[in-house]
Amino acid sequence: MSALAPAPGATHAAVLGIGAYRPERLVPNSEVVDAIDSSDEWIQQRSGIRTRRWAGPEESVQMMSVAASRIAIERAGLDARQIDCVIVATVSHLLQTPAVATAIAHELGTEQAAAFDISAACAGFCHGIAMASDLVRGGSARYVLVIGVERLTDILDLTDRGTAFIFADGAGAAVVGPSDTPGIAPVVWGSDGEQFDLIRQREDWRDVVGSDDRPGSGVMPHLVMQGNPVFRWASFAMAKIGQQALDRAGVSLDDLDVFVPHQANMRIIDAMARSMKLPEHVRIARDIADQGNTSAASIPLALDRMIEEGEARSGDTALLIAFGAGLAYAAQVITIP
Ligand SMILES: CC(C)(COP(=O)(O)OP(=O)(O)OC[C@H]1O[C@@H](n2cnc3c(N)ncnc32)[C@H](O)[C@@H]1OP(=O)(O)O)[C@@H](O)C(=O)NCCC(=O)NCCS
Repeated sequence: MSALAPAPGATHAAVLGIGAYRPERLVPNSEVVDAIDSSDEWIQQRSGIRTRRWAGPEESVQMMSVAASRIAIERAGLDARQIDCVIVATVSHLLQTPAVATAIAHELGTEQAAAFDISAACAGFCHGIAMASDLVRGGSARYVLVIGVERLTDILDLTDRGTAFIFADGAGAAVVGPSDTPGIAPVVWGSDGEQFDLIRQREDWRDVVGSDDRPGSGVMPHLVMQGNPVFRWASFAMAKIGQQALDRAGVSLDDLDVFVPHQANMRIIDAMARSMKLPEHVRIARDIADQGNTSAASIPLALDRMIEEGEARSGDTALLIAFGAGLAYAAQVITIP
């Protein structure tokens, strides 16, 4: 039996740069309320959302991803040709094949980087960061681009009271590469498939549209959600996952500088912070107020804003927690680049 060459992985991995793309069009609650018999006051009180951004026709999944990625690559001090793997977390690229990641890798000018999509809904970005860290340390890639991107308006029913005011569009990206010190702690992740039905695309779309139109002919099975059980699960179960991620990182609450939970709902963010007993000094991402819930894009978008506004500084210790349909979740501690 021949001995195989060992994998030349890096000792440590870190996030080296983050970038974001927010669609041009800002949509206030007043534009959403009539179709769902709601009010600005109700939406703000129940979700904390004042406005959201919805993509225009030119702002495709690919276009938004490329824009966010170019910024992340530049901030990492790299050239696109150095990226050797592209992971795209999304549930709203409307074609199962080919992966949008290959087109993004090509448009960015990578040299035929490995490229694939992952489907873990709102938890997708943190899944991607965990995989990227392992790929870099395992020697399968040197610089991995992780993109969280959604155009959820393509699968949103604007007359559905449970979802129309929550979901939105956008893209965020991060470059993961080798580092002298650990910059991405081990992930705590998992799934609760018993609650598979709580957030999903409708299976009965034929009944809804009253015809045999299929995805691809312009009719997509839209998102539905049982808001109440999702709210309870996220508020309490995810606080425990956050604590486990801190434990795995060897970090105490006092060491933590920044908390970036998935931007699902402001009340969930507040409930998690209370359950985890976050100290006063920890700065909490609240991007949802004017960005809405952008699923896989929400964590990199929120991170990008905190960095831009000086709320997260280079070297800070940040806890990321992502959760959503599946139900799938992933949390890890990272060092802000
Ligand atoms: C969606 C959510 C805001 C709904 O709030 P809720 O308190 O659970 O709402 P309920 O469905 O129990 O309905 C409560 C009342 O509000 C009304 N209501 C529901 N949707 C409404 C809307 N969009 N506008 C106005 N009223 C609405 C209901 O009719 C009901 O009225 P009633 O008390 O007179 O019967 C809440 O469940 C939630 O935030 N869930 C988590 C969702 C989330 O973050 N998902 C993302 C995970 S990735």
